[in-house]
Amino acid sequence: MCGIIGYSGKLQAANVLLEGLRNLEYRGYDSAGISLFTKSGLKTYKAQGRLSQLEALLGENLPEGQCGIGHTRWATHGAPSNVNAHPHASGSITLVHNGILENYMELKEVLLKKGRVFASQTDTEVIAQWLDEEYQQAHEPIKAIRKTLKALKGSYALGILFAEHPGVIYAVRKDSPLIIGLGQGENLIASDITAILTYTRDYLLVEENEIAMITPEQAKIYSPEGEQLVKREPCRADWDIGAAQKGGYAHFMRKEIDEQPHALEATISPRVNNGQIDFSVDHVEDAFLSNFHSVQIVACGTAMHAGMIGKHLIESLARIPVSVNIASEYRYSNPIVGKDDLVIIVSQSGETADTLAALRLAKLHGARTLAIVNVVGSSIAREAERVLYTYAGPEIAVASTKAYSVQTAMFYLLALRIAYLSGNMDTDKIFRYVEKIQAISQMVKDSLKTAPICKEIAADLVDSSDLFYIGRGLDYCLSLEGSLKLKEISYLHSEAYAAGELKHGTISLITEKVPVIAVATQSSILEKMISNMREVKARGGFVVVICQAGSNIPEDAADRVIYLPDSVKDELLAPLAAIVPLQLIAYEIASLRGCDVDKPRNLAKSVTVE
Ligand code: M6R
Repeated sequence: MCGIIGYSGKLQAANVLLEGLRNLEYRGYDSAGISLFTKSGLKTYKAQGRLSQLEALLGENLPEGQCGIGHTRWATHGAPSNVNAHPHASGSITLVHNGILENYMELKEVLLKKGRVFASQTDTEVIAQWLDEEYQQAHEPIKAIRKTLKALKGSYALGILFAEHPGVIYAVRKDSPLIIGLGQGENLIASDITAILTYTRDYLLVEENEIAMITPEQAKIYSPEGEQLVKREPCRADWDIGAAQKGGYAHFMRKEIDEQPHALEATISPRVNNGQIDFSVDHVEDAFLSNFHSVQIVACGTAMHAGMIGKHLIESLARIPVSVNIASEYRYSNPIVGKDDLVIIVSQSGETADTLAALRLAKLHGARTLAIVNVVGSSIAREAERVLYTYAGPEIAVASTKAYSVQTAMFYLLALRIAYLSGNMDTDKIFRYVEKIQAISQMVKDSLKTAPICKEIAADLVDSSDLFYIGRGLDYCLSLEGSLKLKEISYLHSEAYAAGELKHGTISLITEKVPVIAVATQSSILEKMISNMREVKARGGFVVVICQAGSNIPEDAADRVIYLPDSVKDELLAPLAAIVPLQLIAYEIASLRGCDVDKPRNLAKSVTVE
């Protein structure tokens, strides 16, 4: 959701801001804008729609100036429009905002009583006007910002310009991400690392309500209370700019599907030591993973689907009860959780508002909290007691693919370690299993060879209006993920069902040529799946099945068969192979339908509001 970039340095700021906004596009937005200090003062340009609209407004000769802020807006308060786009100005203040101001009505009434007039419907303009009031009293940016923060309730990352202070950008955050990029004779602010990678890989994290100030030569952070400077070691991003570019692919999503073998290898190998699972590189000690009553997994969307696979793995390998919870439900559910439970929080971005709130609640109840996160230094990573980083690199497409695979892989590793520590598996058993885990990357590479048949099947399915996915056990979890992938990027309606549930209602929707994608990777229940597929076929449905190499699928049970590679050496690992054709089918259908695959409508990559 919303993206922020700010630049102060030697280059033409308009170029830097536009490039930064381009790199933030993946977060999802419906309008964009920039403000910069020019020879004739502070100028603002904003436009509804894609960045190309803003570029058209700016014209060929970009306004000149070496310091400015930019923003991509995902509408919350007020429709997408030119006037609601950021930056917002009041008096000598111009600012951009990510997050939601919860008490904006209350503050707006106070300002209205003072005779102030509002141009937009946004909560952000309320912040600009409030800050302007404070600045008129204090005449000093930091004092005015600090006083304003006392009035704000909600989440915010702010980039602020004061007309009297050309070349200086102020920034502050609470519950929304913000970093400072450190360059040579130039500094930046940004809502995420991908926006600054062209200029620097060194950055400072800004903690809640600290006030940052950047100029070309300086990047200072002031503590929330008082005026003292905070000393902080810079972080270094190990993502390079190439990882955040398409590299010849038509879409990021397709590139990221192909990156899965590498991401899996990068995530698994640091945690394997002498044929055993070892989390010492992550400082997750054995005591932390021992002696708990239950495991509660909490996440949203695709991350939650990875958690569902995690439940199967931990329960079957370690025989410990696990629940999987949707974060937005968990946070309001008064959960039964305490110091004897391990709460595992899963998030690619590490910034998902509901997941972060669920983590805070679990901590409040005294639970042990372990995060599985992709973005280093994100809020969830910082707030959880322990963190296991996945090494997927930047995931730019809104539809999560490689992040799902590495989250799932992390659950294999965790399940094995917990199984060992709980006495359920000995080192020999683990050793044999780890050998198979180390072959996962090759298995997924082999699974990518299903791409041509997935393309053909996509052409068969592209004109459908409703699709169904069915599976049992692990395959049901996969079905949910396959269905989510399809609907979010292709806008086709689809639903996933536990295969045995179909005849309890949904089968009434199966008529001539209605597509049903059956995931059937588990041999112990293959016969049951074949019966369910026959039930669909008997009603005229069109069945596509994804199954293990060598599975015997009778002709009357399926129209198309996708065989997984014979390098799937253990059925428990089959989800990591089977997810690939599910992702590819969704991708190919969305491409054939001409959808904006990487930036589907209404969606944001990182959902930082409730
Ligand atoms: O960043 P997170 O993993 O916390 O995001 C959770 C969901 O918003 C995310 O997985 C979403 O469902 C994806 N767009 C699905 O592809």
